[in-house]
Amino acid sequence: MSKSIILYKSKYGTTRKYAQWLSEALGCDLNDIRKAQIGDLAQYDTIIIGGGVYAGSIAGISFLHKHIKALSGKNIIVFAVGVTGQDQDNIKNLKQRNLRDLNVPLFYLQGALSINKLSFLDRTLCKIIQRAIAKKALENREPLEEALIQAGDGFDKTDKAQLEPIISYISNIDS
Ligand SMILES: Cc1cc2nc3c(=O)[nH]c(=O)nc-3n(C[C@H](O)[C@H](O)[C@H](O)COP(=O)(O)O)c2cc1C
Repeated sequence: MSKSIILYKSKYGTTRKYAQWLSEALGCDLNDIRKAQIGDLAQYDTIIIGGGVYAGSIAGISFLHKHIKALSGKNIIVFAVGVTGQDQDNIKNLKQRNLRDLNVPLFYLQGALSINKLSFLDRTLCKIIQRAIAKKALENREPLEEALIQAGDGFDKTDKAQLEPIISYISNIDS
């Protein structure tokens, strides 16, 4: 079996939870991307990068762009954790914005949002958006806006089953 590592960046713990579940399922290593050293990745065949989505950007994705040359020849997989739906348009937009011209598979997992546990700045931002969009017609709402309205004080959609497509993708690399 090829050797894999998951590098994650998580602000409130949702991506870390998925990364821990995935590392248990795959029996692979795990590290916070902020502590990762590119030189230590030489021993791995597969690098899995996971990050929470903030205003359309996947946390930690700059690591991939910065080290893309050093990682050439390795299997690279990215997963993003957000609160919007899993529809194809959403995933396509995330991919265009974050991976640009990189030919890397992107998996999207629905995460969690707990308004009262957010930092003051993030909570204020979410509340401003919630108030502003409450007046907006349903059809004019952006996916994140709609998700924030649906979230109310918060919700948790984390589910191990959402990891199955990633696990089966990685099993296919190995077979
Ligand atoms: C300020 C802020 C901006 C966010 N922007 C997005 C977004 O653009 N798209 C999305 O799907 N989720 C967005 N979210 C929701 C987070 O992606 C979600 O809470 C995720 O589970 C966080 O993962 P983490 O705890 O690992 O950082 C946002 C949350 C906050 C607090």
